[in-house]
Amino acid sequence: MGDRHVSMIINAPPERVFKLYTDPGRAREWLSGVREVRATGPPDQPGSRAVITYRWPFTMTAEVLGAEPPHLHVQRLKELLGLVTCTTTARFRPVEGATELGLEMDYRVAGGPIGRLFDGRVGNEMATTVGEDLARLKALAEEQAGQRRVGPGGGGMRMRTPQPATLQGRAVRLRPVTADDAPRLTEILSHPEVARWWGRYDRDRVQRELVDPNDGTVTFAIQADGQAIGLIQYWEEPDPDYRHAALDLFLHPDWHGRGLGADAIRTLARHLFEDRGHHRLTIDPAAANQRAIRAYRRVGFRPVGVLRRYERGPDGSWHDGLLMDLLPEDLTDPTVEGSSE
Ligand SMILES: CC(C)(COP(=O)(O)OP(=O)(O)OC[C@H]1O[C@@H](n2cnc3c(N)ncnc32)[C@H](O)[C@@H]1OP(=O)(O)O)[C@@H](O)C(=O)NCCC(=O)NCCS
Repeated sequence: MGDRHVSMIINAPPERVFKLYTDPGRAREWLSGVREVRATGPPDQPGSRAVITYRWPFTMTAEVLGAEPPHLHVQRLKELLGLVTCTTTARFRPVEGATELGLEMDYRVAGGPIGRLFDGRVGNEMATTVGEDLARLKALAEEQAGQRRVGPGGGGMRMRTPQPATLQGRAVRLRPVTADDAPRLTEILSHPEVARWWGRYDRDRVQRELVDPNDGTVTFAIQADGQAIGLIQYWEEPDPDYRHAALDLFLHPDWHGRGLGADAIRTLARHLFEDRGHHRLTIDPAAANQRAIRAYRRVGFRPVGVLRRYERGPDGSWHDGLLMDLLPEDLTDPTVEGSSE
């Protein structure tokens, strides 16, 4: 038993993506290994069924459990021998004319202890295959929408880190960092109030770690008042048994103490819970960083414990960190902000 979550931004409206996703006649164009799909009933009506035959000797039945075109589609897939069943929930979220398609797969492998042994492997393979399938679906939808031409590779056959969407908070907006942000981020990090906690950054380090990180970190510029005022980032633990996301951020000192840090964290936290399917988030400020700790508490983070001599500061000495974590039910409501303290 397990679950996996894959999401992707598709530059086409939700109606188009939903139609393509649910159209049995087009499944062969993007679903790996499919030879034939025979459907009984419309794909957006609960109770409709389809039989999916793969190129290798493998057949699945699909039953639509729920559909709200063009926002939601839930179906249960069952391999013919009943060894694998999977409930797939597809959410189509409009994001500035594009669609964020999030796919949650809740699967079960039968077969007692031996089956359980393969559980993780089935899940990982499924997530990889579905990532590849979604990349093909994306290429088809964008081609239809006139957003791109499909070139010789078919358009993205690899599992990719999901592209971050633009996220709207109460007062801040989070958008993907671009190379143009490098000078501004370097400038913000040069302020002693920020450098004290983040360390020294030159343009190269900003480029390497914040503009173009290659360790899976996803970075957003924090926008307010029409300008970039800081950065917030997350990194996801890849081991499914320890799945969580870790956050960090900084703001320009001119914008400290106005609740914008809390706004940015809350906005990203919501995205990580709702769109990335996380059940736990962590953050680990320096134990002496009272402002940060207070801002995180305000969002709902709880202290877990002190990480002794956790990180080396710019002065070369080791200092304590505070591990804090947040579960979805802890996230405070911004409309009653302050009342939770
Ligand atoms: C940490 C940071 C992101 C917080 O964002 P922010 O917008 O300044 O924080 P908020 O305004 O949302 O909340 C700050 C809270 O700390 C309180 N605070 C402000 N200065 C403080 C201080 N010197 N000591 C203790 N608390 C302080 C504020 O009163 C507020 O609490 P309240 O809402 O209960 O009144 C921001 O200050 C920052 O970028 N700091 C420099 C870099 C940094 O420390 N990054 C975090 C690394 S883990």
